[in-house]
Amino acid sequence: MSQTELTGERTLLGMQADIQKDHARLLKALGDWRRTHHCCQLTLADNGREVCLMGWVQYRRDHGGLIFVDLRDREGLTQVVFSPEIAPDAHRDAHVLRSEYVLAIKGRVRPRPEGMTNPNLKTGEIEVVVLDWKLLNTAKTPPFPVEDRTDAGENLRLQWRYLDLRRPRMLHNLRIRHSIAQATRAYLNGLGFLEVETPILTKSTPEGARDFLVPSRVNQGEFYALPQSPQQFKQMLMMSGVERYYQIARCFRDEDLRADRQPEFTQIDIEMSFVDEDQVMTMAEGLMARVFKEALGVDIPLPFPRMAFEDAMRDYGVDKPDTRFDLRLRDVTSCVRGSGFKLFASAPMVKALRVPQGASMSRKDIDELTEFVKIYGAQGLAWIKIHGDDWQSPVAKFLSETEKAALKTEIGLEAGDIVFFQAGAPDMVNAALGNLRVRLGQQLNLIPDNAWNFLWVTDFPLFEYSEEEKRWVACHHPFTAAQDASYESMLSDPASARARAYDMVLNGNEVGGGSIRIHSAEAQFRMFEALGFSAEAARDQFGYFIQALEYGTPPHGGIAFGLDRIAMLLTGAGSIRDVIAFPKTQKATCLLTSAPSAVAARQLRELGLKLREQAAEAAKPTE
Ligand code: AMO
Ligand code: AMP
Repeated sequence: MSQTELTGERTLLGMQADIQKDHARLLKALGDWRRTHHCCQLTLADNGREVCLMGWVQYRRDHGGLIFVDLRDREGLTQVVFSPEIAPDAHRDAHVLRSEYVLAIKGRVRPRPEGMTNPNLKTGEIEVVVLDWKLLNTAKTPPFPVEDRTDAGENLRLQWRYLDLRRPRMLHNLRIRHSIAQATRAYLNGLGFLEVETPILTKSTPEGARDFLVPSRVNQGEFYALPQSPQQFKQMLMMSGVERYYQIARCFRDEDLRADRQPEFTQIDIEMSFVDEDQVMTMAEGLMARVFKEALGVDIPLPFPRMAFEDAMRDYGVDKPDTRFDLRLRDVTSCVRGSGFKLFASAPMVKALRVPQGASMSRKDIDELTEFVKIYGAQGLAWIKIHGDDWQSPVAKFLSETEKAALKTEIGLEAGDIVFFQAGAPDMVNAALGNLRVRLGQQLNLIPDNAWNFLWVTDFPLFEYSEEEKRWVACHHPFTAAQDASYESMLSDPASARARAYDMVLNGNEVGGGSIRIHSAEAQFRMFEALGFSAEAARDQFGYFIQALEYGTPPHGGIAFGLDRIAMLLTGAGSIRDVIAFPKTQKATCLLTSAPSAVAARQLRELGLKLREQAAEAAKPTE
């Protein structure tokens, strides 16, 4: 920053300080003033009523002697008028008012003059003529105007979050979130669930995402972990005989962040004893219906459709299909098996995605889509535009007439279509085309407004192979029971074992997931064995839990919902950060408090910790 800019800034700050000082003389205590109404309440029916309002200055306008202030509180806006004729004393100092000053006014409700009404405002037919007022606080000029339409970037908004949250849109989001939590409690209380809290300082265990660790001062060299979910505790509550548990629980996972992922997030966490899948799912559907009714006034039809994991992957390429629009993937591997086009002929899997009437897509559109699928590991994106018998494509020339005929039948191609192909390993092919499908749904406006498509995805694999760890890991978590048919074969044939697990999907988002749990120590050992643990290692890491299973554990199961994700969908917010009062950035920092931050060397010493040189250099802790 240049010297002049610095000076300029100082002067500005200096001026602001002077204004503040000047205005500070007007500051008054609340005294015996009590608010009579919120700023969204008064209408023509209140004409002549004497009221007391409190809130923030949204705008001040001076008009031929009259001073108008839009007063804002949590509920809305009311126009208040300072008039030199009606209340000269009240009018005298009103010119000091600035945006975000905090006021209390006493005044009289009157109709707005002809032509001055505002049909967009609930209080738009009245105004309140001020008889007396108090300045409760001043405010510096906010870094961005406190209004819904803002061009302030997200980082600025997060840095000044308390100002950002004053915006009606953000208050609305907090309100919707509140309704979800309250509807949840009312519903579950009604079904005899007990709300129980579980520890935040707990034990680090292998499996799952990376833990956040908390060093222990009292037991040096040892660490707590923050819970990734209350999974083991809720199961131990079933072992305790609680039978029906819930908690609106904070969970912590040190994983890469996205628009729908936060390092700390909130689950509606539920567990039930003496139940099977259907009972948990019916309870969960009822919960969603109640939440949607109370938060949005929307009736959700029950029960939700179900789809097996395998079918979801086959038709949609992902395990959370967005069923609001109908594009499907087609497996065409067999149509191009012996093809002259080596890329197709040799690939383990070839799938097609037909976009009806998509042939008008430009080369540029297709290039953008090709770049998009590369995120999912694709090398390229083959495509064919169908113009009657003429196939326009960089790859059609490699296909024989027989292959073309087979593709035409298999995919159901019609004139005017474009069809995309992906060839390669099944995981990559599904991810590339499945995500391309979602992108095209949005880009081509195939998604109807106000549709709420709930879906259960069932019959998940029990395990998935981790290339990183070179072993099988649990698809859901290691406490999930195998389906009866897989129990015997889960060790010899882990790839085809199926879990008693279910995910709830809403409009292509995974909003909840759960399972029926293992409830015998023997089966739990078997699971750990499949995950590559020796009996000793399992006892060492999970001994307390396995032991608990040996003392009369009832059959049980449950589910957890992502409360933030549900709130994001209900409010139409673009990110879960918009429905969390004080969220973290993509880099897991809090711009308001500057967490995480370096700590004093003394604090580290107390914990018996020493930073490695590189970390010490980066963190620069204070003495
Ligand atoms: P799971 O790991 O599937 O299951 O989590 C349940 C739900 O929590 C939400 N969710 C998240 N939301 C925001 N940010 C995140 N980082 C994040 N991670 C997950 C998702 C998800 O569906 N203990 C099991 C549940 C059970 O078996 O009962 C569990 O945690 O919406
Ligand atoms: P090339 O032979 O590299 O010129 O590729 C021919 C066409 O196939 C181009 O349109 C590529 O974008 C596309 N392509 C490349 N790799 C794949 C793949 N794995 N699956 C589908 N199409 C691909």
